[in-house]
Amino acid sequence: MLTGMRPKGNRLLVTGPVRVHTALVRSFVVALVFLASMPIAAVAQTPLISKRANRIADSVLKLMTLDEKLGQLTQTPSANDQTGPTVDAGGLQQIRAGKLGAFLNLMGADVVRKFQRVAVEESRLHIPLLLGYDVIHGMRTIFPVPLAMAATFDSAAAARAAHIAALEATAMGLHWTFAPMVDIARDARWGRIVEGAGEDPYLGSVMAAAQVRGFQGDNLASPTSILATVKHFAAYGGAEGGRDYNIVPISDRQLFEVYLPPFEAAARAGAGTFMASFNEISGTPSHANDWLLTDVLRKRWSFAGFVVSDWTGVLELMPHGIAADSATAARRALHAGVDMEMSSMLYRNTLAAEVKAGRFPLALVDSAVHRVLRVKAALGLFDDPYRGASADRERKEILSADKRAAAREIARESIVLLTNNVVNGAPALPLSRELRSLAVIGTLADDSASTLGSWSGQGRKEDAISVLTGLRRALPNTRITFARGVPLDSIRTSGIAEAVQAAGAADAVLLVLGERGDMSGEASSRASIELPGAQLELAQAVVRAVRAGGSSKPVIAVLMNGRPLAIPWLADSTSAVAVSWFLGVEHGNALADILIGAESPSGKLPVTFPRATGQVPIYYAHKNTGRPADANNHYTSKYLDLPWTPLFPFGHGLSYTTFAYGNVKVSREKLRGSDSLTVSVDVTNSGKRAGTEVAQLYLRDDAATVTRPVRELRGFQRVALQPGETRTVRFSLKPQDLAMYDREMRRVVEPGTFTVWLGGSSAATLESHFTVTGDVVVLAKAPPVFR
Ligand code: NOJ
Repeated sequence: MLTGMRPKGNRLLVTGPVRVHTALVRSFVVALVFLASMPIAAVAQTPLISKRANRIADSVLKLMTLDEKLGQLTQTPSANDQTGPTVDAGGLQQIRAGKLGAFLNLMGADVVRKFQRVAVEESRLHIPLLLGYDVIHGMRTIFPVPLAMAATFDSAAAARAAHIAALEATAMGLHWTFAPMVDIARDARWGRIVEGAGEDPYLGSVMAAAQVRGFQGDNLASPTSILATVKHFAAYGGAEGGRDYNIVPISDRQLFEVYLPPFEAAARAGAGTFMASFNEISGTPSHANDWLLTDVLRKRWSFAGFVVSDWTGVLELMPHGIAADSATAARRALHAGVDMEMSSMLYRNTLAAEVKAGRFPLALVDSAVHRVLRVKAALGLFDDPYRGASADRERKEILSADKRAAAREIARESIVLLTNNVVNGAPALPLSRELRSLAVIGTLADDSASTLGSWSGQGRKEDAISVLTGLRRALPNTRITFARGVPLDSIRTSGIAEAVQAAGAADAVLLVLGERGDMSGEASSRASIELPGAQLELAQAVVRAVRAGGSSKPVIAVLMNGRPLAIPWLADSTSAVAVSWFLGVEHGNALADILIGAESPSGKLPVTFPRATGQVPIYYAHKNTGRPADANNHYTSKYLDLPWTPLFPFGHGLSYTTFAYGNVKVSREKLRGSDSLTVSVDVTNSGKRAGTEVAQLYLRDDAATVTRPVRELRGFQRVALQPGETRTVRFSLKPQDLAMYDREMRRVVEPGTFTVWLGGSSAATLESHFTVTGDVVVLAKAPPVFR
């Protein structure tokens, strides 16, 4: 018997706290009364999938026709009319006929209630619709883009932003977000680098799990929880040449060491769905990769949710060249483990005939439908298909003052100060609040749409604070002049003269440079990661004119960007450089808070900044090679025409104060591979202002049976310190942190010496050592072999 329900006549009565939608459950009664005698399907019991959810899925599945089953595996985009997302007449008919189980991009409490009502009251089985949308970094209150969020090194902030997005999205009737995007990206040309946490598997894993927790909360059935999708499974960020949708030429080892950890972390955090990726690995597109979707995801990681295709990913098996027709594409995808098809309709259009002709097993259709139904049940959709969405809730939740305040706070934490030179006896930043005049130069300064970045949900540019607006508010007594400079997509330079003039007439100059919000994101790869258009020329003209007049006034560069940009000239020739990414609706306010010193910057780079596109891919956790770069030895791993070092390393970021590290201690110098240890370090605010430092710990297994990266992040902590204050920061290292994949791909801790480095970036030099003694400790057996 279901918890909280008991049958009475042909209805179910609620006996516990769960409110059941009675029209909806009516048709399940017949099946439910058999439940007591039925064996419960042998599935992993995770917090996501309760026995109750399984029983609901069992009972509904029994009642379904093949067409209805395929309907549950089908998701389609909503239609649009002048008033916003809707469902057209054909779609409505399909809902009634039970031929559609899910929509994407259908939202708004009133709209959603209308169509959900048709599903649960007018379709034969009353199965509720599942409604998804790309709520990536906010629904209406837009937060920093995920790459910027990663720059906070603050998992609580990531969880908080995801929770706030869930509050707004669920008020608008959504159940499901296609986030977090957890693809590791080490090629800045790839436009979708903006959607993830950057280059590092450890930081990526922490951020992935935090977002899952933020979206889904403790209880998926809560009306304020939204189902998460971990995407794009897998290794999509390794696209060859940085070109979107391209093949990913990696080894199994790279897959497991670099690309899979954030996916595994998100699965273990209880994520309800995964999305397959567009790319292929070793000749197998993810949408047909049963090894990845079934052997690794379901069996090795015990994932109990369901897998959705990425848009027309099932259909794309044809252009990939592994399916000659749509029926084959559908069979291959569902067989591999893609449970729900988004947007293309191959499952619905071809699989009934395939099953009837005996070319595809009904059992595989059934298990996919079961997975979809039990996630719907876990969301509480069979209890309340509307999940409390209402116009009232929308009014209360959307863009409320507390949400904007959170967006501003988190946006401040995302800003990374790359350089800050001393000008006239003081650092160029923060700007004095007594500044008489400031020239703001660059078209992006006035571009509130760009502050939202890519995938900005229902964010509106009218709600977003541009850099210029933020500065005008923060510096009411400063005369601020604005010169647009040059456009971003052309080499027109006619605006340079005006910008030079404005710079000459002001006491300080702020160059706002970088990319428009749509220059990164899906299908927005760039072959060059230098400043687009004639922006470099603009910056050079301004700086040269200012210096030619003998002035030492500060010329500060602020970047707006969705990827690392190669800016060696700016770094060398301006007084300060700050990275502001795309910070969301509070961009201008948050940036102004930092520029005027209301708060010290505390962001750190989640991705290496190269000197030039030619260095890409470049990342801190590289291998040493047999011939590590050596300036005095020609035959070592380097370039003739560029240094081998990055412009700014991973983890770098300055503050308005300074931090000193010392007194590093390891709790045990010798330990067994199954033991844990603590590494501690004293962090002191050695400057004159309060500030927050991200203390980082890097680790290396000095000599192992397979080559290891030169160092790998294994811990970080944000530490707020008053001037002169010292705090001892402790990092716990567990066997899992010391482990690696050996030659058999077992996860092991090997005996030998390890080095730890502690400091404020991946270039940290303060080090200590410990030794693992005894036998090899096996933490996990080798994954199934890729077929
Ligand atoms: C394609 C994108 O790759 C994916 O990230 C997104 O979630 C879907 N479209 C749905 O919009």
